[in-house]
Amino acid sequence: MQAKFVEDQIIKESYSAIERLRQRLLGVSPRYYIETYGCQMNEHDSEKIAGMLESVGYVPAVSKNDADLILFNTCCIRDHAEKRTFGNVGFVKELKQNNPALITAVCGCMMQQREVAKRLASRFPFVDLVFGTNELHIFPQMLEKVMDGGRVFEIKDIEGEIAEGLPIKRNEGFSTFVNIMYGCNNFCSYCIVPYVRGRERSRRAEDIVAEVRHVVEAEGFTEVTLLGQNVNSYDDNGIKFPELLRRVNEIEGLRRLRFMTSHPKDLSHELVMAMAECDKVCPHIHLPVQSGSNRILQLMNRRYTREHYLDLVKDLRENVQGIEITTDIIVGFPTETDEDLNDTLDLVRKVGYSAAYSFAYSVRPGTKAASMDGQIPEEIKKQRLALLNEVILESVNGANDKYIGTEDEILIEGVDTRGEPMLFGKLGCLKMVYVKGDESLIGTYHRARITGTRFNSLVGELMD
Ligand code: 5AD
Ligand code: SF4
Repeated sequence: MQAKFVEDQIIKESYSAIERLRQRLLGVSPRYYIETYGCQMNEHDSEKIAGMLESVGYVPAVSKNDADLILFNTCCIRDHAEKRTFGNVGFVKELKQNNPALITAVCGCMMQQREVAKRLASRFPFVDLVFGTNELHIFPQMLEKVMDGGRVFEIKDIEGEIAEGLPIKRNEGFSTFVNIMYGCNNFCSYCIVPYVRGRERSRRAEDIVAEVRHVVEAEGFTEVTLLGQNVNSYDDNGIKFPELLRRVNEIEGLRRLRFMTSHPKDLSHELVMAMAECDKVCPHIHLPVQSGSNRILQLMNRRYTREHYLDLVKDLRENVQGIEITTDIIVGFPTETDEDLNDTLDLVRKVGYSAAYSFAYSVRPGTKAASMDGQIPEEIKKQRLALLNEVILESVNGANDKYIGTEDEILIEGVDTRGEPMLFGKLGCLKMVYVKGDESLIGTYHRARITGTRFNSLVGELMD
């Protein structure tokens, strides 16, 4: 689909509002606190809001207690994310009583469900600003209205526009995210994302390349993760994902290039070869399988079979040297039998994931699976999840031994001070490695020799 872009005029208005707010807040330096739930997409949206807040003069608060503005960026992928949000927004009531000038805002996927947003707004009258996933770029205008004493509730239907050119305050570190596309067209039958993030739309390749170049050259990041709900269907007027990877791979100063998430139905051999040939693309892929049973995969509307998935794994392993694969798995999907579960456990053992994120199926109102017969009792979902987690743990631990004696490059990211201080860093394949060394090495790349394993990670020593 041809992507639509937010008109320049609207972005200009956002910048005018930023300028007016900046004047208004001169010499004040109010503090903001953002609490983010959910995936990297939400994390990155929070970085965009932080960018706008900092450009009007806000500075980060240490905690909610000393903030002048608290924003909750919500998630609704599973039921408990929703429950937690209601609980945590409720706590702000007390802070507001102590500080009536406190501004409280709630945004994100959960608020894009209009009924839930209305419920939240009426349960918590002290919330000043509620907005959905499509209103990020008019945040300055909305904040201005709140500062004028208004209460703002802004949730539009998602038309699927892309807003370019707004400020971003990136988290500190050496690794950062760059969006390449928004939304999802897949309608997996359990998933709420297509309803709250709208249809798939790809950013222009030239804008993505320019942003990666900027974060590398001007902000000093050396590792970039390209983000999208389904990066394998990226399409900017015929420029597909493998081509985009090749273009980003050319950027000087970039050391590591990652991407997520990949949908198995769209993972092409061409992409596998692009991964193999681009020297900066890390040997890791997050490839959610969701289930190992063909019957359940069909009910989930995943549009691939376990055989196809295993063929992809073979292709990846044959062509991308040292690749590690991670995944997401759901148990307790409607009608799932013990036999279906066994198919999933068998697939986990066959693939040998380096990490697998496991979930009990959570009913999402409005999705197709929510109204399917054969819903599984919570107790059984829990038992199946425990069983799956055991199998995941066994296969992940077993897969770590092969690293002992190998040598490879790590990016040193920090120091772990629990017990004897150890630096930690990541291999390209995402495995965490602990090494002894000086804190001044944080942020640099070094070769390490792996000498042992430690829980889910590796232990090694730095080489000269
Ligand atoms: N219940 C449980 N897990 C879910 N996921 C998405 N929707 C649901 C749901 N309704 C999981 C999928 C997805 C990950 C981000 O969250 O495994 O890949
Ligand atoms: Fe949800 Fe499926 Fe889209 Fe992923 S691909 S966001 S699981 S609908």
